[in-house]
Amino acid sequence: MDYRFQTASSVVGGSHSIRRLNELMAALHSPSHVLILTQPSMIRLGHIDTMTRQLDTMRIAWHVHDRVMREPTLDSIYDICDEYSGHSFDALIGMGGGSVLDATKLLATLLVERIPPARLLQSGAVCRRGLPMALIPTTSGTGSEVTPNAIVTLPEEELKVGIISPFFYPDIAILDPVLTLDLPQSITAATGMDAFTHALESYISNKANPISDMFALEAIRLISSSLLPAYHHARSLEDRERVLLGSAYAGMALSAAGTAAVHALAYPLGGSFNVPHGVANSMLLTHVMNFNLDAIEDRLIPVAAAMGYHERGGDTQSPAAWVLEQITHWTKEMEIPQSLTPFGAKPADLERLTAAAAKVTRLLNNNPKPLHTSDIAAIYNKLMPLT
Ligand SMILES: NC(=O)c1ccc[n+]([C@@H]2O[C@H](COP(=O)([O-])OP(=O)(O)OC[C@H]3O[C@@H](n4cnc5c(N)ncnc54)[C@H](O)[C@@H]3O)[C@@H](O)[C@H]2O)c1
Ligand SMILES: [Fe+2]
Repeated sequence: MDYRFQTASSVVGGSHSIRRLNELMAALHSPSHVLILTQPSMIRLGHIDTMTRQLDTMRIAWHVHDRVMREPTLDSIYDICDEYSGHSFDALIGMGGGSVLDATKLLATLLVERIPPARLLQSGAVCRRGLPMALIPTTSGTGSEVTPNAIVTLPEEELKVGIISPFFYPDIAILDPVLTLDLPQSITAATGMDAFTHALESYISNKANPISDMFALEAIRLISSSLLPAYHHARSLEDRERVLLGSAYAGMALSAAGTAAVHALAYPLGGSFNVPHGVANSMLLTHVMNFNLDAIEDRLIPVAAAMGYHERGGDTQSPAAWVLEQITHWTKEMEIPQSLTPFGAKPADLERLTAAAAKVTRLLNNNPKPLHTSDIAAIYNKLMPLT
């Protein structure tokens, strides 16, 4: 079996690790002018202040851009690039959810070389390192801080696409669970299910390998034991830390093995109906796994064990049935929408969604069972209860 594994050059973790700015600046090759990309919540919560006060002490100039769009469009990334193209930044820090981290990866490249949008979307377009970058996740999460992927929305195509480059691994990833203590319940739920989906899809991927398996199973163990506690007790630092670490491990697993049909079918839901990425995955997860079931039953035995099948009295059911029941229980408990109706989708949209998902061959090819268009349509149909 062939496999390769790569991750962020350096990973630093632990409570208040964003205060270890000396280490951060060394990893960024001691910059003199830093652009910080973030979202307004990080300013409101005082986390950006914690960074900039230290930068002042170190006499490093900085600028904060807090208008990174949620699930950014490609155009919005070029707008930021145009805004700063005349500046002399020599490093970037992205502090936020996956939206900010992905935007930071793209800007690190585009501020050095303004690759035209049509070319950027072709594979292999990013073929040299951009500005040094630090990625600091504040959701748990996409795992983007350790992956080579940057996902953008293409509204005109009603789709999301992944731009992938080994140059998108950051110089340093910082896992500070304190940043996640104020995550609202709905975002804890959706981003936690995204992380769990990364782990599960990597584990059943056609490209699964010994390295991705190790990270995937540990991610499943950490997330399945601490996601509901973190949802119910937002300020439980121990649970927040486990889910954050789990999401990074899940990112490492997906870097090595790729996600599969759940993510492929989720992209058109984000692109057409703005369904948040984690909600889209969570809606699709059990339906796609049920479709895959005969091909993955054996793989779900270690997954069930990592989720506590024996300790938690699952043995009255098969491991596969118990895993799917647990996932259904989590989504109900965390009140994650399980239908497209509240997002405005109608049965008439089915054909268009199906055609869009069928194009995501990069991920569909990783799925353990091939999906024909009729299979994709049947899965989407389950999210439209009126048909
Ligand atoms: N690069 C990858 O490997 C990868 C993997 C999966 C998903 N993604 C992409 O990442 C994006 C989604 O990222 P996300 O799910 O992290 O959400 P997000 O970045 O869109 O953030 C969601 C919301 O949470 C808020 N928020 C973030 N951190 C907070 C905190 N600590 N406290 C309070 N509010 C906070 C943000 O301001 C935003 O309003 C999508 O575009 C998705 O496609 C990328
Ligand atoms: Fe994801």
